[in-house]
Amino acid sequence: MEKTEIEKTKQNYTVSAKIFHWGFVILFAYGISKQVDNINQLEDLALLKFEITFALLFILFLVARFVYMKRTQKSSLPPNTPRAQKFLAKAVHYGMYVGMITIAVSGLIIGCLYWLGLKSGILIETIISWHEFSVSSVYWLVGLHLIGAIYHRFKNDGVWESMMPTFKRGK
Ligand code: HEM
Ligand code: HEM
Repeated sequence: MEKTEIEKTKQNYTVSAKIFHWGFVILFAYGISKQVDNINQLEDLALLKFEITFALLFILFLVARFVYMKRTQKSSLPPNTPRAQKFLAKAVHYGMYVGMITIAVSGLIIGCLYWLGLKSGILIETIISWHEFSVSSVYWLVGLHLIGAIYHRFKNDGVWESMMPTFKRGK
């Protein structure tokens, strides 16, 4: 029990890590809100260019975040966490990175094919299905991630707090 108290204040993500994490939540929500509802919308060249630029920035930001997090940060799961739980958390984190990259890359391919005039047919339809499948997978993974975060909120082991914006120092 004593140990948990110590662990509570031991680990905290840096401000940059939190900006990456929460900035990304906003960016992803924005991407979803701007989603293409129908392929014919891409007839609008301004929208097509916007989507492509957004997807490129999304990838850039995601890669920068991944490199930063891998090089400088560690999970705040307490050391005595069961291996299976550590594995699950890691799998969900990696899964979200892979899913997000896949959304953006498949979106870029759709955009390029459309620009090249391949506006219908089996090829673009397959990539759209892949794009939609990636979106659904990320929704599921974010759902699992949220359940995990809330679980730690109630377990009160410091994991939730480690990623939350903080305005005061822990004692
Ligand atoms: C689009 C939504 C979200 C995505 C894609 C996402 C992704 C991630 C990823 C990949 C990590 C691992 C650290 C990293 O590489 O940055 C992480 C950590 C974390 N996230 Fe999220 N997250 C999302 C939303 C949320 C929300 C809504 C909460 C809380 C309500 C939350 C709470 C946490 C916490 C507490 C950690 C630290 C876990 C640990 O130390 O092992 N996340 N998130
Ligand atoms: C990171 C960037 C992107 C995000 C977050 C995103 C998000 C989404 C979402 C949430 C959907 C709806 C999926 C569903 O209903 O299951 C969607 C569908 C679609 N997106 Fe994207 N997208 C991105 C990039 C792109 C790009 C760059 C293009 C092409 C220029 C594109 C073209 C499409 C098309 C054609 C559909 C299917 C519309 C239909 O149902 O006919 N997306 N996207």
